[in-house]
Formats: sequence, C-alpha cells, structure tokens
Amino acid sequence: MANASAQLYERAGKVVPAGVNSNTRARSPHPFYFQTADGPWLRDADGRQWLDMVMGNGAVMLGHNHPQVQDAVRQAIDRGMTTGVESALSVEVAELFLDQVPTLDMVRFTNTGTEAVQHALQLARHATGRRRIAKVEGAYHGWSDELFVSVWADVTRAGTVNNITPLAGTTGLRDDVVDDVLVVPFNDLERTEQRIEQAADEIACLLLEPVMIDIGVIEPMPDYLAGLRQLCDRHGIVLLFDELLTGFNVAPGGAQARYGVTPDLATYGKALANGYPLAALAGREDLMRMTEPGKGPAFVGTFNGHAISMAACQATLRVLQDGSVQKTVADRAATLAGQFDGWAKSAGIDAVMTACGSHVHWFFADRSPTDYRSAASVDRAAYAAFNTALEQAGVVTLPNPLSHHAVSLAHDVAALDRLAEAMEAGFAAIAEARANAGA
Ligand SMILES: Cc1ncc(COP(=O)(O)O)c(C=O)c1O
Repeated sequence: MANASAQLYERAGKVVPAGVNSNTRARSPHPFYFQTADGPWLRDADGRQWLDMVMGNGAVMLGHNHPQVQDAVRQAIDRGMTTGVESALSVEVAELFLDQVPTLDMVRFTNTGTEAVQHALQLARHATGRRRIAKVEGAYHGWSDELFVSVWADVTRAGTVNNITPLAGTTGLRDDVVDDVLVVPFNDLERTEQRIEQAADEIACLLLEPVMIDIGVIEPMPDYLAGLRQLCDRHGIVLLFDELLTGFNVAPGGAQARYGVTPDLATYGKALANGYPLAALAGREDLMRMTEPGKGPAFVGTFNGHAISMAACQATLRVLQDGSVQKTVADRAATLAGQFDGWAKSAGIDAVMTACGSHVHWFFADRSPTDYRSAASVDRAAYAAFNTALEQAGVVTLPNPLSHHAVSLAHDVAALDRLAEAMEAGFAAIAEARANAGA
C-alpha cells in the first residue's frame, strides 16, 4: 500500500527537525501529512480521508473550509492589503469583538496566543510595579520562558500541593525566571489564597485558563473563579484569564460570561478566526491604554491586525454572534460525552469524557479530574491503546493524554457515526490489551 506520509516523513526528516513544525504533531512511526481539508474531514497525501478530532488544536470551531470565512479571506486577498498599516476593517473587527465581550473595554490584536499572553504579563508588571507572576500547575499558555513553567510537569519532582515547586517544562529556560514563578493548584481556592498571601506584594498577575481545557477540559468548581477575583482585588493583583480556548467558544462572551467573573485582562485566539492566525489581548480601559505609545510597555508587531486574519475574524465573529453555533456545538459535545460514558460502562472500563463548548477529552479514570495532578494520574496505557484504535479507524487525535479534542459545527451525523464506531473499537482494544496482559 502506498504510504505517502511515510515517504514525506523521510524527506522532511532531512530538512525539518522531527519532520514537523510543531512538536505536538510528531507521531510514531511518522507524522501525517495532509493535502486538503473540508468540514470535519482531512485528506492525506495518499488521498485517504480522516476524521479530524483535533480541529486546529481547538481553533477551527466552524469546520475546515467554512464558506463565509473562506469568501471573506478571498475578498481580502483581492483588495491587495497585507500588513504593516491599519485598516478600516481592523476597526470594525475590534467593535464586533467588544460587542460580544461586553465585560471588557478595549482590544488589540496579535498573531499568536503566546504573544498575547506575553504582552499581558508585561502590562501587569508595568501596572503594578511588581515582578512575579502566579500561574496554575500544568497549565499551558504558550512557549515563552515564564509560560513554560510547570507545563506537563513531573509531579514526583514538583513538591506537595501545598508548596508546588516551579519546574521548567522544557530545557533552555532561564533558571531565575523559572524560580520566580509562583505555581498554584487549579480549583483549590484555599491553597491558592495561602500561597499568594505569602508573596502578594511581589505578584503582578495571576494567570489561568478559567476552564482548564489545554490538559483535558476541567471546569472550575463553583465559587473558585469568584474567589480568585476577590483575592486579586484584595492584593491589587491583575487577574488574567487565558481565554484562547474558551473565548467565543463556550459562550459568545467566553468563560467570563459563562461563569460571571470578569478578569482585568484576557487573551484570545483560536475560535476568533476559525484557524487563521490571530490572537488578541483585551481588558479594562485604564490598563489597555497603558500600551499606548510612551505610556507603558511596547505593543508592536509586523503582522498585528493582518488583513487576511482580520477578514477571517470578521466573518467568524458574525457567524458566532448570536450564540446559536456555540449552543449547537456544545450540545453535540455533551451528547458525545454521554454516549462515551455508556460505551465505557458496557465495556467495564473506567473512563469519562469531559466537555465544555466545542472541546472534549477522554480520561481513563473513574472520575473527572479536577486539577493537573488528578489529570496526570490517569491510565496512560489505556489512552494509548484507545487512540491507536481510533487512528487505525481513520480518526486524527493527539497522542498526549494531557491534551484536548474538539467537535465542530461541521461534525455532522456521518462524522459522529464514524467516531462512534471508532470509539467502540477503542474500548475493545483496551479490553483486549488488558486481557493479553492478564489484568
Ligand atoms: C490556553 C492556551 N493559551 C495559549 C496558547 C498559545 O497559543 P499559540 O499557540 O497561538 O501561541 C495555547 C495554544 O495551544 C492555549 O491552548
């Protein structure tokens, strides 16, 4: 059988490290190389059709090749604008953005989430005159030095939950930057208060995903976010919600609308432009105005407000504006989660699917995790067996058990039927692996 992906990998491996442009795409025995995408489907270099459950790491909420978004992009290309200047369109997009996020006053666009979060940290430092940031254990917010602290951390080296040791999530980080980050557990208001109160006058900013989606869709406990809001208010700390995955997705106004807690600053990306490269920093007017020239930290970027991304964003936000897409997609994700639980029970396997907005994830554990440590302790062998079976059935998933998957507006009955079949095969594969191991 032809295997163009294997052949491309052989070529790519000579010119591109690991043959991929983002390490999360590395696969054994080789990554996939795709040619086209439409709706929930990808077609690989051999012409084989795959069901996409990664959907641009949660960015492509309307499905690939969405007609309104693609038309808007084509029109933008025809207008001849690219980047490096402002456009009338970028003003319209900012207005449309803030109409849907009425809790925040001003917005600025960047290209990637990493940049947006990095801008927010500089702004928080400038506004408070403090140096350190506090972040949640295990949370991913991008790849820069501070952000990669305690990401996918080895909990056996990370101290106790009362006093989490900050760990570099990758080599190459500056030790002093790593040591400076205060790491707190998700969903644990009491411990977070204790830790922050010990160092409050050094902390510029508390950074978290309001729903911890990046390690597998973990919702906040009641009152947790409101408690963090009060904690930050008591100590003059900037509360920064990373809404890269929740923004425009779990509700038009994002997680802050869903849970009724307004941060000082928030970062966006992903669903914002249905897969075109765009991110944003938004927030309170007094803070955001500090990024104006000469007032505070620099805010610059050649591709900021790029004409193509702005066009994609305008079309996407118009589709998402009335909240009906979010409802359709969330209902679909919730139905899938219910079915998954049924399949798990019939197979006699401890497994749960968590869902929020378009995001879903499957954990092989007897209950839904509530924080990084409980997510990190799931049965990884079961996850690997399940995902291998999915892949054999033509479903694209992520090999890391601490990741997330998504349905989209384009995941119709045919796509979900194909997924159901693959997932049932996945449970059978786990049962078989356990039987072979004599478990
Ligand atoms: C919650 C969250 N924050 C930030 C980022 C970083 O965004 P980007 O990959 O656009 O730099 C990601 C990316 O996966 C993310 O999921």
